Amino acid sequence: MKRQQEFYRDTWAEIDLDALYYNMKEIRNFLPSETRIFATVKANGYGHGDIQTAKTVLKAGAHGLTVAFLDEALALREEGVNAPILILGATRPQDVPIAADHQISLTVYDGEWLKEAEKHLSPGKKVALHIKCDTGMGRIGVRDEEELKQIEDYINNSNCFSFEGIFTHFATADELDTEYYERQLSRFKKLLQVLKTTPTYVHAANSAAALYHSDATFNATRIGIAMYGLTPSAEIEPYLPFKRREVFSLHSKIIHVKKMHPGEKVGYGADYTTENEEWIATIPIGYADGWIRKLRGFHVLAGGERVPIVGKICMDQSMIKLPYYMPIGTQVTLIGEQNGQFISVDEVANKLDTINYEVTCTITNRVPRVFKSKSMRDF
Ligand SMILES: Cc1ncc(COP(=O)(O)O)c(C=O)c1O
Repeated sequence: MKRQQEFYRDTWAEIDLDALYYNMKEIRNFLPSETRIFATVKANGYGHGDIQTAKTVLKAGAHGLTVAFLDEALALREEGVNAPILILGATRPQDVPIAADHQISLTVYDGEWLKEAEKHLSPGKKVALHIKCDTGMGRIGVRDEEELKQIEDYINNSNCFSFEGIFTHFATADELDTEYYERQLSRFKKLLQVLKTTPTYVHAANSAAALYHSDATFNATRIGIAMYGLTPSAEIEPYLPFKRREVFSLHSKIIHVKKMHPGEKVGYGADYTTENEEWIATIPIGYADGWIRKLRGFHVLAGGERVPIVGKICMDQSMIKLPYYMPIGTQVTLIGEQNGQFISVDEVANKLDTINYEVTCTITNRVPRVFKSKSMRDF
């Protein structure tokens, strides 16, 4: 495992590898034993750190990994990850030989792409392909039976390609209303019927489909949000089979503290005015870290209490109002647990009118990720 990098600032994201391991074990135990789990570690493991996340979930029972782009797959290979990797998004035809060299499987959804990619593969080079079917997501994918037949034939008649998998992706698996989900599922089943050969992997389910619906696991799944301990949606959360543990937390420390008099101003625009004598502290995190300006008026944990963010969030710093004096170096928790108090990723997402996925992905690479494992497993 890559050594944790040194860092020189008092803001960090803590990644609880024990929680990640636990979540994946629970998912593994819940799904049928023959269902292979591809853990989705794109976007730097949804902001959790792709390499450490990948190594941990593979130890906990994941069979392979999915990412969005070739660069992400290569980064995993460079760190010695040998498990199957599937790129879910588009790969440029000229880059296909690189995927072949590193045993990275690719997604195909267009016959012309196959012809182009073939031109770039020298004799003896072979790449494994998963056909993506668009059954209602409207993003990428083969949409009709004829096209699917042609792509399957092309793959099977070529020396450059092997037909490794077929998949689709649900748009509404995280909703209680199952009508559209069922339409997509039956469309996928119809598409599967036209295949002349059966690939190794047939997969449709994301976290929501795998944990909330029992009819879409086929022989493989692609699990993302649930292994990070987060919910696919508040709607289906009460019906999920087990509780997960949040993996991501975000922390900083007070770097400056002062007593301000009534009527003094804080922050850009000077638009926060102290009403009384107030203890105002500064923490070194701002919108360039993904702690964005819309979080103004939200709160953080200091001294085990919820304390408000005051004034506009700056690029690198934010100001908070303390209930009493706290010294420089006091830990501030922006996401996670402190002395029994908890700010969840979902609470931040709600404040931002977004989804939990976006919160952890948005915390930028400037914030170092610190990997913690109390059980000291060699992840
Ligand atoms: C094609 C595809 N499969 C699987 C996933 C994982 O979904 P989830 O994180 O909801 O489990 C994603 C996530 O964006 C995806 O785009």
